[in-house]
Amino acid sequence: MRIAVAGTGYVGLSLAVLLAQHNDVTAVDVVAEKVEKINAGISPIRDPEIEDFLAHRELRLTATLDGESAYRDAELVVVATPTNYDPSRNYFDTHFVEDVIELVTSVNPTVPMVVKSTVPVGYTRSLLERWPEGRFLFSPEFLREGRALYDNLHPSRIVVGVPSESVHAEELEGVAHEFARLLQEGAEDEDVPTLVMRATEAEAVKLFANTYLALRVAYFNELDTYAEARGLDAKSIIEAVGLDPRIGSHYNNPSFGYGGYCLPKDTKQLLANYSKVPQNLIGAIVDANRTRKDFVADEVIQMVMDLVYAGVRRPLVGVYRLTMKSGSDNFRASSIQGIMKRVKSKGIPVLVYEPTLGDAEFFGSEVTHDLEGFKRRADVIVANRWSDELSDVGEKVYTRDLFRRD
Ligand SMILES: NC(=O)c1ccc[n+]([C@@H]2O[C@H](COP(=O)([O-])OP(=O)(O)OC[C@H]3O[C@@H](n4cnc5c(N)ncnc54)[C@H](O)[C@@H]3O)[C@@H](O)[C@H]2O)c1
Repeated sequence: MRIAVAGTGYVGLSLAVLLAQHNDVTAVDVVAEKVEKINAGISPIRDPEIEDFLAHRELRLTATLDGESAYRDAELVVVATPTNYDPSRNYFDTHFVEDVIELVTSVNPTVPMVVKSTVPVGYTRSLLERWPEGRFLFSPEFLREGRALYDNLHPSRIVVGVPSESVHAEELEGVAHEFARLLQEGAEDEDVPTLVMRATEAEAVKLFANTYLALRVAYFNELDTYAEARGLDAKSIIEAVGLDPRIGSHYNNPSFGYGGYCLPKDTKQLLANYSKVPQNLIGAIVDANRTRKDFVADEVIQMVMDLVYAGVRRPLVGVYRLTMKSGSDNFRASSIQGIMKRVKSKGIPVLVYEPTLGDAEFFGSEVTHDLEGFKRRADVIVANRWSDELSDVGEKVYTRDLFRRD
């Protein structure tokens, strides 16, 4: 099949590579550098499987800036452009998705389009008001950053949503099964659980899944806050709590808050979707993340104050990595930025150690790539995730990474 994929980020590129094992795939982006890299067999993002597949596997994959040609020739279009949360409208900004749909519709009005970007509940149905003849499907994407292709090679499930209101609903039901088959064909696991459902439910699946993950992070963080405030050993409590098989010992490592590209925005979007529907928990999950950052920042500020009382002049707080996870190559909405902002608002100087950042400053704070100098200069070091690089200055480090894993 000839497939065009719009967007070569974590979602788009992993799908493009997955599908290009058995199909002719054209990956479209608006950033020339990404297109050039992909065509040279180099991954523009850090992802071991994508890097390996682009360099060594036989793929029928071409990248291009020319969306018009790619969409005109395609038998199926996958949309994987960003949907950022817009705080002024209290809703996702979906215009990157609509830009693609507009272009696709103008050159190939009958081609089915699978939206893989995360969208508000009811979004696919709303597309039909603007494009009543459009053939839209929505398929939630569950991959993790840094394991993007791995998670598509070993998917937990494949979900495809069909808008039942569409005049093409029957035809789209068939396309949904065909798309699920293509994902299954590219995967290394067999018999992946597959669900074809209505698009609105599929949209809800994505937001509820991510909000559950945020809830779990927020829960163990709040447990940790309690233990810290009462002088208890959080690690032993979490270990014993998790041994109940209904709870489990996974995904329970305290942090400065849930972060990354998806959890902060998807929880807020789900809360916005509740609108007039009664709830307590969803709002509490969003609030809990703010409260956690306030708590962590207060602890760091207290460490600084203790140094001041001990006679240190203007103690310097070192931020060790801006990333969310240890192997990450970006720091979109990472929780440590929330700590940094709160610490700086008290007039405390901050020095950032972030080797992936080329700029000399980050929000007015100096950035260094010199780890030894960083460790020497910083009086307190905050690290969302521990690294053995910090072993020799452990007494300066503030972290809540109790289990030394993501
Ligand atoms: N990152 C994740 O872990 C993850 C997981 C599941 C779902 N999602 C969702 O998938 C969507 C994409 O996320 P991502 O992390 O891959 O984003 P990303 O920012 O890494 O990549 C998006 C890409 O789309 C490109 N783009 C923007 N406008 C375009 C256009 N008009 N035509 C073609 N390309 C265009 C950008 O240049 C960029 O390369 C979002 O809705 C996100 O919420 C992300």
